Amino acid sequence: MKLTPMSPTCLPRLLQILPVLLAAACGVMAGEAAAPSPTITIHADQIKGPSSPMLYGIMTEEINYSYDGGLYAELVQNRAFLDNADSPVHWSLVQDTGAAGTIALDKTQPLNDALPVSLKLEITAGGAQQRAGIANDGYWGIAVRPATAYRASFYAKAAPGFSGPLTVSLENNDGSTVFASANVTGVTGAWKKYEVKLTTGRGFQPSATNRLAIRASAPGTLWFGLVSLFPPTLNNRPNGLRPDIMALLAEYKPAFLRFPGGNYLEGNDIKNYFKWKQTLGDLSQRPGHMSPWRYRSSDGMGLLEYLEWCEDLKMQPLLAVFAGLLLGQGGEILPGEALQPYVQEALDEIEYVTGDTSTKWGAERAKDGHPAPFKLTYVEVGNEDWRGDYNGRFKQIHDAIKAKYPNLQLIDSSIRGGVGANGRLTSRVTDLTADVHDHHLYTNSELQSEFSSTSYDNYDRKGPKVFEGEWATRVPANQPTPNFAGALGDAAYMTGFERNSDMVIMAGYAPLFVNISNPAGRGTPGSSMQWPVNLIGFNALGSYGSPSFYAQVMFNNNRGDQILTSSVSGVGTRTWQAPAGRDGGQPPPAREVPTLFHAVTRDSKTGIIYLKVVNPLGTPQDVHVDIQGARSVAAKGESVIMKAGSPEETNSIAEPKKIVPVTAAETGFGASFTRTLAPYSINILKLSSN
Ligand code: AHR
Repeated sequence: MKLTPMSPTCLPRLLQILPVLLAAACGVMAGEAAAPSPTITIHADQIKGPSSPMLYGIMTEEINYSYDGGLYAELVQNRAFLDNADSPVHWSLVQDTGAAGTIALDKTQPLNDALPVSLKLEITAGGAQQRAGIANDGYWGIAVRPATAYRASFYAKAAPGFSGPLTVSLENNDGSTVFASANVTGVTGAWKKYEVKLTTGRGFQPSATNRLAIRASAPGTLWFGLVSLFPPTLNNRPNGLRPDIMALLAEYKPAFLRFPGGNYLEGNDIKNYFKWKQTLGDLSQRPGHMSPWRYRSSDGMGLLEYLEWCEDLKMQPLLAVFAGLLLGQGGEILPGEALQPYVQEALDEIEYVTGDTSTKWGAERAKDGHPAPFKLTYVEVGNEDWRGDYNGRFKQIHDAIKAKYPNLQLIDSSIRGGVGANGRLTSRVTDLTADVHDHHLYTNSELQSEFSSTSYDNYDRKGPKVFEGEWATRVPANQPTPNFAGALGDAAYMTGFERNSDMVIMAGYAPLFVNISNPAGRGTPGSSMQWPVNLIGFNALGSYGSPSFYAQVMFNNNRGDQILTSSVSGVGTRTWQAPAGRDGGQPPPAREVPTLFHAVTRDSKTGIIYLKVVNPLGTPQDVHVDIQGARSVAAKGESVIMKAGSPEETNSIAEPKKIVPVTAAETGFGASFTRTLAPYSINILKLSSN
């Protein structure tokens, strides 16, 4: 690592750091690098601009079993028997000694047109003590907790002659412990929905090595459709969300939710883009679809569920509408007549979200249980639309939306590469300029994120606003969630958002979730992870935030509404050598990356100045802070600091809170003071000023 002080920019500053330069010169003569001695100067009387109230939010999609097997609380995997065309995956036959039977997918007895496959159970030998039935193993297990009420439901019908009752039970994987059970009687030759409550007792530890079983105690033939099991959900919604994951998100206080993707919006082919109309209403009418992330989505998490998720966390929906790009080879719906039905779908979708009950789709929403419209400001057209005639498709969709909804802000999702020489991001839309540009940056090293942290500092303020719609420091490369090195890169990058949050108006780390139960074999059937490095991890029993998650919690919860002008000097650098590209050619030139990152905002009501400083080094750094133009800065204040003993340290399901921010009362602040920043630390100093 090379440490070199950056050059000063003005005379007073030069005088101030002269000792440092001399030390540096001596160091060079002695063959040693000089320790940097940074000074952050804050101009409390110079407001650079407003800091966007929407800056920190969430980007989400069905990937890594984010919803099915994740946030969406359903416990039965393959509940509609559509996940695999050849076999009833996740289902097994359970039978007592002496009983005999088979299970198989059956297309001849569909539940309805939406769910055209049922599970057939044929019991050839059975009785009260020789029961046979079906069992589901859940999403890498089914979490069973003491004193908890579960709701099981299923559709069933029987061939003539079946007389027995059914027993529904929550039990461990070998059936030796039954936590709760209930009987269902009166199964006939017609499809009917049955529902039971399964309430567990006390005196056992929560576990996930469990299954849901439905058994019959008489021979006969039965068919099952849409078998479902829900634990208690947030706000007791019947089709609701997992409270533990929602509690984590509530800590973050995201301002918006970008949904439904990502690649998930587009899908691989015309059958499998996000068809929002098929995600509404009763679950038995939702066929689900194949996600581009190579597993089937139940669509239990449908458009209204996304919107209610927004409502629960007081987020604004940021709705991405399908724009005609399909991810499979060459798939594109060309602008013009062919695209028109999809333009209409987008208009209908916006009406479903925002229309009052006098509108067709607003009335549908009311029928689905939510009469009140949702507030919508931003609509994104497509996702990472890098192929074909996006210019034409964007214009057609843009013009139709603006004609009906002139106040909506439209986001262009075609940006590749960073800020160009003209100080702007370069769009593939050339016939017009979108209100907002969505830019994505995934880096493979913390140094790359740190290097990129200044990219918006010279952005052309007359250009479109920026939505950093997907970004992450993907370190370490193959793990489900990032370590502290990733968080340091993220925090450095976020200082760039905050210094420029007059114009970087929103940012959403991606992906948000990963089911960590079986990350091996990434993306292959049975693997729970399709994309490594995600903000929040979970399994059937619990969830945790990565250090990167807590960096965002810190940043979002400690931010003012005004960006203060600031500068930094005396900062060292270290060298970042990006690897050669995939073509194996020459690597790009090595870059010098600063070793300190900062941003300053102020709350106009309280006068609190939030100074964020990131020390990515493994050594302490003494940072001098000079606040100019404030009448007074109190000696007492507060700090919020997150640090780690090494960049490799991280949180996990076993140690969910190993690295978290710590808030402490502070003294020794003022208009001019020096702080020693701990090695590998993300620091927020809250300074009371007026
Ligand atoms: O976040 C994972 C994927 O990365 C998104 O689906 C896509 O938009 C991007 O390429």
